[in-house]
Amino acid sequence: MKTKKLFVNTMGCQMNVYDSEKVASVLARLGFEKTSVLEEADLVVVNTCTIREKAEQKAFSFLGRLAKLKRKKTDLVVAVGGCVAQQEGEAILKRVPSVDLVFGTRAIGRVAEHVARIERQGVKIVDVEMTDAPVRTEPDAPISSNGQVSSFVTIMTGCENYCTYCVVPSVRGKEISRRPESIVGEIESLVCSGVREVVLLGQNVNSYGIKQGYCSFAELIGMVDRVEGLERIRFTTSHPKDLSEELMGAFAKYEKLCGHFHLPVQSGSDRILKRMNRGYTKEIYMKKVEGLRRVRPHIALSTDIIVGFPGESEEDFEQTLDLIEKASYDSLFAFKYSDRPSAPARKFSGKVPESVKTQRLRRVLESQEDRTTARHRSLIGTVLRVLVEGPSKKQRAGGADLDVVQWSGRTETNIVVNIMLDESTSVRPDENLTGRSVDVKIDGAFPHSIWGKPVAEGTETPIAKGETYAA
Ligand code: 5AD
Ligand code: SF4
Repeated sequence: MKTKKLFVNTMGCQMNVYDSEKVASVLARLGFEKTSVLEEADLVVVNTCTIREKAEQKAFSFLGRLAKLKRKKTDLVVAVGGCVAQQEGEAILKRVPSVDLVFGTRAIGRVAEHVARIERQGVKIVDVEMTDAPVRTEPDAPISSNGQVSSFVTIMTGCENYCTYCVVPSVRGKEISRRPESIVGEIESLVCSGVREVVLLGQNVNSYGIKQGYCSFAELIGMVDRVEGLERIRFTTSHPKDLSEELMGAFAKYEKLCGHFHLPVQSGSDRILKRMNRGYTKEIYMKKVEGLRRVRPHIALSTDIIVGFPGESEEDFEQTLDLIEKASYDSLFAFKYSDRPSAPARKFSGKVPESVKTQRLRRVLESQEDRTTARHRSLIGTVLRVLVEGPSKKQRAGGADLDVVQWSGRTETNIVVNIMLDESTSVRPDENLTGRSVDVKIDGAFPHSIWGKPVAEGTETPIAKGETYAA
């Protein structure tokens, strides 16, 4: 079979990253091999995101670029998947006629057959069917890890929470959990191909398995914890209203479960939380934060914040700033509210002017920046265990010019650590550290990362699991 080239452009969240891997693995059966050179591609897959308007604009601007490319290379096949595909369907073909295939979020298992038909017959196909059969979302080919140390594993798809700003329930459909055996089987094969860390993915992992009566999310973590050779387990995303005592208890019970929790709060105002249909108050949320800190005192917490939701007054916004202060997050993501076509908040009154949103976004980011930097600085001089994911960004960008060798990894609390190797370090500069856990003495801190040098095993005691921060 002739090898054909596949270029994948993945936009948006981790779920899309995972889906793109699945698409690449089903297309490998048709003889497609991945390339990072767009001009070389026979097939381009664009995995799109529609969570905010900007993300959608980005997708269409890339499709515009592909339309130009296709004028030069007429046999190029262009496939559009992900959330914009699901939302717009047929309309994409009208807006960008050079597109050949539009496939929705639950059509990944059918992509290979569609591409084969397009190659044979030159037809255009739109498949945005929202079938409920989970088997369709689970192509049988196991994912190859591509040499990664950390891998995403989707444990459930869809969402039924209907937060009023969110497009996910309409583009990802009803909640469906995968069978625990299928998840564990996939993780076992990933570990065999070198993976040391998995990130379990779902829109609301806390409700995993409930509808189908499989097992609870905490029990699933227990099963994954028993996979031999796996070192770390992470998960995302959790809905605060469903964060159970049992899941909190998992942090005391399972060795491999990393001390980091992403718990999106969105707003600190009870009035706005109600309008968002979040199902908790600021007080309930803070109780969960305290509960987590009781089981793992130095757990790292992160969150998502939306500023400028319809009706958000200065007073509401100050409640958000107050909550950020009280929760004392390690990091956060903040977004300006964006109207989405199928989300109810689009019709809400009290739209906040763009200039106010911009100013509030800046205030949130500034309030967090100082805290993150202070946290990072407090780590200087400590020894942290780092799971190395590969050469650092700088190394990859032009390592030949560097006078030290740099590797990059993460602490269990999800801080990026750059590791410097030179003649003085206990690890030789020519050693490959990918996939290894290394104890690193921290020498410096930046807003988004820290750096240091490895210490010889046994010379200094690494800080115990979950005790990354001097509180
Ligand atoms: N506008 C702005 N931010 C949004 N998010 C989801 N929908 C919107 C929207 N319409 C944010 C939420 C969510 C994160 C993934 O994206 O904070 O947690
Ligand atoms: Fe969207 Fe809310 Fe579901 Fe998260 S929980 S995907 S914000 S509807």
